[in-house]
Amino acid sequence: MVSGKRGLIVAIDGPAGAGKSTIARLLAEKLGYTYIDTGAMYRAVTFCVIREDRHINDNERIVKFIRSLKMEIKNNRIYCFGEDITDKLRSELVEKNVSEISRIKEVREVLIEIQQQLGSRGKAVLEGRDIGTCVFPEADLKIFLSASPDIRAKRRYYQLVDANRKAKLDEVQKGIKHRDKIDSTRETGPLNPAEDAIFLDTSDLTINEVIEKIAGLVEEVKNNG
Ligand code: DC
Repeated sequence: MVSGKRGLIVAIDGPAGAGKSTIARLLAEKLGYTYIDTGAMYRAVTFCVIREDRHINDNERIVKFIRSLKMEIKNNRIYCFGEDITDKLRSELVEKNVSEISRIKEVREVLIEIQQQLGSRGKAVLEGRDIGTCVFPEADLKIFLSASPDIRAKRRYYQLVDANRKAKLDEVQKGIKHRDKIDSTRETGPLNPAEDAIFLDTSDLTINEVIEKIAGLVEEVKNNG
C-alpha cells in the first residue's frame, strides 16, 4: 500500500553478490530517491569494534559499545563519532567479521532504528537482508535479488581484482558460502524473502536490465497506489 503522506519505500534484499548495492544505488539515482545501504552500517560497527580492539566474541562489550554509538549518514558517507569511515568498510578483516557482528540482537535493534528514521519520509531505496521483513515490513515494493552462488562469487572476485586486491576465486567462494550460512540461519532478522517479495534472479541479466525491471515495478505501484 502506498501511503498518502510519504513517498514510496523500495526494499531490496538478497545475499552477498546478488548485485544489490550497484542496483539499489543506480535505481535510487534514476528515481531521484535516497539510497540507504544498510550493509555499510553493519560494516561500520564491525570496523569500529575491530579497531577499538573490543574482542569480536565479547558480546557484552559490543553491546555496551553499540548503545553508545553515534552514527550519521550524509551524502552516502558514514560517520561514526564524527569520523568519516566510509572508505574503510570493504577490508578483508571487516568482511570476515561482519556476519558475526550482525547476528547480535542489540546491534540489529540500534541499526534498524537508524534505518527506519532515515527512510521514514519515503522516496527511499533501502538495501540489505531484512528490509522487507523487519525494517520496513510495510514497504511499497519488496524485491528479493538473487543469483547462483557461482555467479555471485565470480562477481565478487572480479570486484576485488578491479580494486587491485589479492583474491583467489575458491577463497571468495568459501567466504560467500560462510556469510550466506550465518546470515540465513541467525535468530534475529535472518536473510529470508518477505512473503510478498518479488524474486529476481540476476544470474543472466545485466545491471541495466534489472534496474529497468524494478523501475517498471515502481511505476506500476505508483499507478495502482
Ligand atoms: O550487503 P553487505 O555485503 O555490505 O553486508 C555486509 C553484512 O552485513 C552481511 O554479511 C550481513 C549484514 N547485513 C545484515 O545483517 N542486515 C542487513 N540489513 C544488511 C547487511
